[in-house]
Amino acid sequence: MRPVELSERVIRALVGRHEELARISEPGPGVTRLFATSEHLQAIELLRDWMQTAGMTTRVDAAGNLVGRWAADPAAGGNAKAILIGSHHDTVRQGGRYDGAMGVLLAIACVEALAAAGRRLDFHVDVVCFSDEEGTRYGTSLIGSRAIAGVLEEAVLDWKDAGGVRMRDAMSRAGFAPERLATCAYRPAETLGYVEAHIEQGPVLEQENLPVGLVTGIAVGSRYRFTVEGVPGHAGTVPMAQRRDALTAAAAMVLACEHVARERAEVVATVGRLEVSPGATNVIPGAVTFTLDLRAPDEPRQSAALEAMVIAVERVARERMVAVRHEAYYRADGCEMDTAMRAALARAIEAEGLPVRELFSGAGHDALALRHIAPVGMLFVRCRDGISHHPDEHAEPADMVTAARVLLRFLADFAPPTRA
Ligand code: GLV
Ligand code: MN
Ligand code: MN
Repeated sequence: MRPVELSERVIRALVGRHEELARISEPGPGVTRLFATSEHLQAIELLRDWMQTAGMTTRVDAAGNLVGRWAADPAAGGNAKAILIGSHHDTVRQGGRYDGAMGVLLAIACVEALAAAGRRLDFHVDVVCFSDEEGTRYGTSLIGSRAIAGVLEEAVLDWKDAGGVRMRDAMSRAGFAPERLATCAYRPAETLGYVEAHIEQGPVLEQENLPVGLVTGIAVGSRYRFTVEGVPGHAGTVPMAQRRDALTAAAAMVLACEHVARERAEVVATVGRLEVSPGATNVIPGAVTFTLDLRAPDEPRQSAALEAMVIAVERVARERMVAVRHEAYYRADGCEMDTAMRAALARAIEAEGLPVRELFSGAGHDALALRHIAPVGMLFVRCRDGISHHPDEHAEPADMVTAARVLLRFLADFAPPTRA
């Protein structure tokens, strides 16, 4: 089919909007935009405006997801189904301006190009801007996309953020409707697929001088909380040999986890938070909690690594005479991308004259939730120096334009895949 062109106007807007959206942030370096905050609501306003100007009808669902619809060609009949395309608007603390945002802005650019060409498709194009993927505020990820997939457990609504605010209260205050979570869900029967473009967040495409890559699957990822209990005491009087310092024990545990991960191919482990109690300069730490983010390509490798880490941590606890326990508080099973969606994206990449470089994603993405209701496919976009979750995250405008062309071809040629 004749490709849909991307005009200079659409390209300029695509690039400039990353800057504009990035200005909606908590103060500080990089971008900090969290679920159900005033920044979230400001982002909705801006994105909604761009969606409506592009000709979409918009709505904000009960979980704070923004959805813009480019309606199907009326000739397709009243029962047209939808293809979902987008990503998330939220960020990690002090994150970059492309992670999530790029997927949403590319989707809007595609609709703008379709609108400029006067093209309606045989299906609705629903541009989704998920309210939370990172899980920064509440520790549980994919809040928005799990709500849209109808797999968000009601129990998480009672989780509290660091300031003690329950998720359901934050949502109500933001004008969302936690009591109507079920209304967010798309029915599988009305959902043809979900496609997302995302910054690679790694160095491979840059090393191979390629603008885009095809995602094959997403790693298994879990989050654990370890609690170490020692004995607090006076920093000036307790002899070193008699201390049961929870923080020095936790430090040894963190290194033990790192050691286990380093010994296993494709396992990655990160301790990103540590809380020390009582947290005073002249008091031996009595208790420490730390988080562990553990990822692997599949479940056997992930659970084997966890088991080895727990054995190593318990050994440290015995040696240092402290107590330790752990609990899992979040888990995302990995997934493979749908075969037909992959093939369709591969055809679109080839049609742009590019080789199809397949990549596995160590990072989590909204597709993990969406695959419960639809075939999923993902495209990666080259990332400068592989830097992500950092203010220096950067994607070149030319690469985003290539990604937009691939997505446009994908949409224009899309034939509903059959689910495996
Ligand atoms: C989200 O970006 C994650 O993989 O943690
Ligand atoms: Mn991220
Ligand atoms: Mn992301």
